[in-house]
Amino acid sequence: MDSIVIEGGHPLSGEIQISGAKNSAIKLQAVCLLTDKKVTLKNMPRLADTRFMGQLLAHMGVDVEEGPGSQMTLHAKSLSSTTAPYDLVRKMRASFNVLGPLIARTGAAKVSLPGGCAIGARPVDLHLKALEALGAQITLDEGYVIANAKDGLRGADITFPFISVGATEHTMLAAVLAKGKTVLNNAAREPEIIDLAECLNAMGAKITGAGRSMIEIEGVKSLGGVTHSVVPDRIEAGTYALAAATVGGKVKLTNLRPDHLGSLWPLIAQAGSDVQLQADSVIIQRNGTELRPVDIDTQAYPGYPTDLQAQFMAMMTLADGVSIIRENIFENRFMHCPELSRMGANITVSGREAIVRGVKSLHGAPVMATDLRASASLISAGLAAKGSTTIGRVYHLDRGFEHIEIKLGQCGAKIKRVSE
Ligand code: EPZ
Repeated sequence: MDSIVIEGGHPLSGEIQISGAKNSAIKLQAVCLLTDKKVTLKNMPRLADTRFMGQLLAHMGVDVEEGPGSQMTLHAKSLSSTTAPYDLVRKMRASFNVLGPLIARTGAAKVSLPGGCAIGARPVDLHLKALEALGAQITLDEGYVIANAKDGLRGADITFPFISVGATEHTMLAAVLAKGKTVLNNAAREPEIIDLAECLNAMGAKITGAGRSMIEIEGVKSLGGVTHSVVPDRIEAGTYALAAATVGGKVKLTNLRPDHLGSLWPLIAQAGSDVQLQADSVIIQRNGTELRPVDIDTQAYPGYPTDLQAQFMAMMTLADGVSIIRENIFENRFMHCPELSRMGANITVSGREAIVRGVKSLHGAPVMATDLRASASLISAGLAAKGSTTIGRVYHLDRGFEHIEIKLGQCGAKIKRVSE
């Protein structure tokens, strides 16, 4: 199994180009199930998760073609299977989102329940209730969801009891082909939702309000093909911005949407870095200024993202004072704390809060990644630490960061991948 080995203590300096967003790309891949025409996705990140989704779609009879460059073409001319087996769904939770499009296109589907994961139980009850509201009959059998809508789906007025990115996207993916109008209240407002709506609308769907709490979808009979460019990955961009702010130096991030990280920039500045925002790039600079403590509180968009909580904590381990990090989205997303502590951090976790008492320096250590964003926080800490850090279970990183060691290496980081 691969490890990442980092020789810490070198400031970062250079430019990093941001890839397409993983969390948008995998839902956009599922869009192909809604049409017998070609779906071409540009700015696709090359990641383990987009590969898993490609494998699942290929299993259903979709023609999946990678390249040239960062392009992927998906053609579901006809479907040979409407089953998503456990072996493929368990590798990536978001693949559960094929259920809605399969019902919408064929009136029937059998999709494995995704199960829990390292950051929490992560049920799919909201997804299933919304699909039932659209007229799907759902039964659970031996870990599978079996869904039928023989006469097709019909529009419905749905109010989510709390905000869920996945349930909002999943319901959109089913409602676009339903008869009549669907209204989603208390919908998620993430940029990835807007990206999905823009792609579906370019195929002929009638979605309005994406990016606001109320989304309206007028069902259409069929959807055509599309060429769509995946929105830049705001979490990847935020991760590198936080790494630069934690380690120090000057890094320019290009090919991103700085407006998608409106909650992050003021906090990085408050913590001691200079932040220069341009239309599609950002420069983060910290030369000698001490890191200052800042509290964060994760929230649904446009609040501070849970997917950047671990990386912010890594920065706060070196701040001159105490900060409080509150995680509101997932119940078990502090698995990086014991690992950061192995590197000399002083963190006390109490329920949904972590109290971080800044230390003068971190030291390198062998550590283990537990999930994707936790791994990124260990990279940041390793780059800032004195000495050598070895991060195991690199497959977590490969799920969501394209060429992370190459991108950081271009900025002077002493980082390499080692195969055992
Ligand atoms: C998406 O997960 C992202 N994943 C997550 O990124 C991200 O952390 C999360 O949104 C929040 O922004 C993808 O897009 C693939 P939710 P999702 O439904 O859709 C609970 C990463 O590292 N819930 O908004 O699964 C749920 O357990 C990943 O890239 C229910 O109880 O998140 C959680 O506590 C990790 N029932 C909360 O809602 C449901 O039916 C919000 O989850 C659905 C969700």
